[in-house]
Amino acid sequence: MIQYIVTADAHAEAKKLIPAKAHQIGKGEFANVYATKSGKRVFKAGKLERNHAYLKWASRVHEIKNVYFPKIFNISVFSESDDFETGYFVVEMERLTEANSVSIVEVYAHKVEVDQLAHTFRFCNTKPEHTREFMKRAYKTYSTKHRESLMSAIQHTLIAYQQSSEELNESHNVWLDLHPGNFLRRNNQIVITDPIAQRELSV
Ligand SMILES: Nc1ncnc2c1ncn2[C@@H]1O[C@H](COP(=O)(O)OP(=O)(O)O)[C@@H](O)[C@H]1O
Ligand SMILES: [Mg+2]
Repeated sequence: MIQYIVTADAHAEAKKLIPAKAHQIGKGEFANVYATKSGKRVFKAGKLERNHAYLKWASRVHEIKNVYFPKIFNISVFSESDDFETGYFVVEMERLTEANSVSIVEVYAHKVEVDQLAHTFRFCNTKPEHTREFMKRAYKTYSTKHRESLMSAIQHTLIAYQQSSEELNESHNVWLDLHPGNFLRRNNQIVITDPIAQRELSV
């Protein structure tokens, strides 16, 4: 569940959730990620404007357990007005790692796995009337010990994606963002961390 907080200073309140000793360990187009040196949790923070779709997905992930998703502990959003159109968010989640850049073999294996996953996502995200059929086919053809979890992860992501597209009213403003940087690892397990992105909404 997302905690919604109206405050006179959204930026200051969001900042309070990030430990004073934390430093930036990651940067994307939409958010920055902070952690302390040996912290087992990270704090992903950013502006609300371009993250409504991501937060819709994260709030689903927060509610369920799935090996393909990060474990999310808290989602807080701060705004100076009660429509929550603008403001800041902080997502506290488990710390994951990138593909081990020491070994070229591991980096390559990660890339192959990401490509396969992205392909399966696109395959399943077809016309609404075909999606169910494609999900069934993907289930049959995908060989992994976590096949059920994978199908569930895809389903949750596609639902969040479709809901965001409807709510944001212009479907081209939301897309499945399946580049390698949005897949991290928990030891040998690939983890989908950031699969939905959103363009700046025009007003
Ligand atoms: N749970 C995490 N553990 C460790 N690093 C992370 C985690 N989540 C994100 N990062 C790092 O931060 C970067 C940006 O995160 P991401 O979720 O992709 O943000 P954005 O929404 O800006 O694209 C990632 O590429 C990764 O290096
Ligand atoms: Mg990203």
